[in-house]
Amino acid sequence: MNQHETPLFTGLKKHRDRKPVQFHIPGHKGGKGMDEEFRSFIGDQALSIDLINIEPLDDLHHPQGMIKQAQDLAAEAFGADYTFFSVQGTSGAIMTMIMSVCHPGDKIIVPRNVHKSVTTAIIFSGAKPVFIHPELDDRFGISHGITSEAVLKACEAHPDAKGLLVINPTYFGVSADLKKIVNIAHRFDIPVLVDEAHGVHIHFHERLPLSAMQAGADMAATSVHKLGGSLTQSSVLNLREGLVSHERVQSILSMLHTTSTSYLLLASLDAARRHLAIHGRELMEETLRLADHARRRLNEIPGIYCPGSEILTSDATVDFDPTKLIISVKKLGLSGYDVEVWLREKANIEVELSDLYNILCIVTPGDREEDIDELVTALDKLSKEYSDKEETENIRVKVPDIPVLALSPREAFYSSTETILLKEAVGRISAEFVMVYPPGIPIFIPGEIITRENIDYIHDNVEAGLPVQGPEDDTLETIQVIREQRAFK
Ligand SMILES: Cc1ncc(COP(=O)(O)O)c(C=O)c1O
Repeated sequence: MNQHETPLFTGLKKHRDRKPVQFHIPGHKGGKGMDEEFRSFIGDQALSIDLINIEPLDDLHHPQGMIKQAQDLAAEAFGADYTFFSVQGTSGAIMTMIMSVCHPGDKIIVPRNVHKSVTTAIIFSGAKPVFIHPELDDRFGISHGITSEAVLKACEAHPDAKGLLVINPTYFGVSADLKKIVNIAHRFDIPVLVDEAHGVHIHFHERLPLSAMQAGADMAATSVHKLGGSLTQSSVLNLREGLVSHERVQSILSMLHTTSTSYLLLASLDAARRHLAIHGRELMEETLRLADHARRRLNEIPGIYCPGSEILTSDATVDFDPTKLIISVKKLGLSGYDVEVWLREKANIEVELSDLYNILCIVTPGDREEDIDELVTALDKLSKEYSDKEETENIRVKVPDIPVLALSPREAFYSSTETILLKEAVGRISAEFVMVYPPGIPIFIPGEIITRENIDYIHDNVEAGLPVQGPEDDTLETIQVIREQRAFK
């Protein structure tokens, strides 16, 4: 196999060059039938390969030609036995992983701080989650991974589980001991499914945490679009065969996917794989250099703290991705969200996410030294503006408590419900998700018992201006809970 080739992207261009008369969708027919302003903005080149699964362009639902060749090259690049392209993001790939191993009633071991696509797949499949509590870090108010000891205990207590899901690395770039976790799960023949949404690049440099495939995991859902240079929404599902069959994965992926797959997204995956396979190491070397430089300069600013390897203090935190800049701003007496807004309004800088105590900035091969300079200069200015407010140094960091699951998420989701005031919901069972997005990790999932502490945490986030989402009532005044049967008098 030749990693310099792009069978799908090249195949699309060749097809376009033949200029066939098109009597098929998409009806814009190379852009000629669409809004002129949009057409000239997007450009004829892009529109000319916005095609569908006609001959000879292959079909994501049954790949045998150029899509298969592109997937095979990706499998080689990622060290997998099979790679499947997803145009439904990593969310689609995560749902595929879970539905490939779980039947209704099957157990799956998952950390509680999972992305909502995991809980959605648990609801769709009817699987029963066995939650492992992630390690909470009260220095930063974030949650990390799971310990191998917790995994061992969960596997011993539930040897019949059909899967173990691990987030590697987390949104904040922290990894647990994935290799050890995989070895433990495999002793029980439990397949390991990795949410690798934030780790497509880690496979390509030895200073970065082990990728799922390097650690011997069975499947990984990997967002090429987030950090690997493909277009938004395009991801891959990598599979190491043994405990999971590729035919099963292909059929579930197809069930969950649109039949109108975007060839622009697919071609961007093919090209991003070439870029990573050929230049990945050197790109990551330069990105790591920039990130190290940024971290050093950020830590010279009073009131700002950007942790490095000292964030690793336990078995749940054994490695980290230095390209993720977790910037703690609590000592400035500001919330992460305040800083996000300040940077937007005063410096025209957009961050990846903010929470109550931090902002997260990601450094990628798309960054240059000037971008780092702008961030450092802006935060230095912010620090000077707020330095007199440093008395808030001992701010108490709150990490949300993990609620108790009273019903399976599926039972709760399909139960009869009633709508009540959120402030009066303590003790009731939630029928809805409530999460801060990003990162999209639920505060409540359907089936969990609502606590005062978590209602207060929701209010803290709303008051700080953070995007709390999930309930049908987006004012968050009310929440849907499981209807209680009352005895008749
Ligand atoms: C940890 C994690 N998993 C999964 C996803 C879903 O990825 P995608 O947006 O590609 O569907 C995200 C997205 O933010 C995420 O943060």
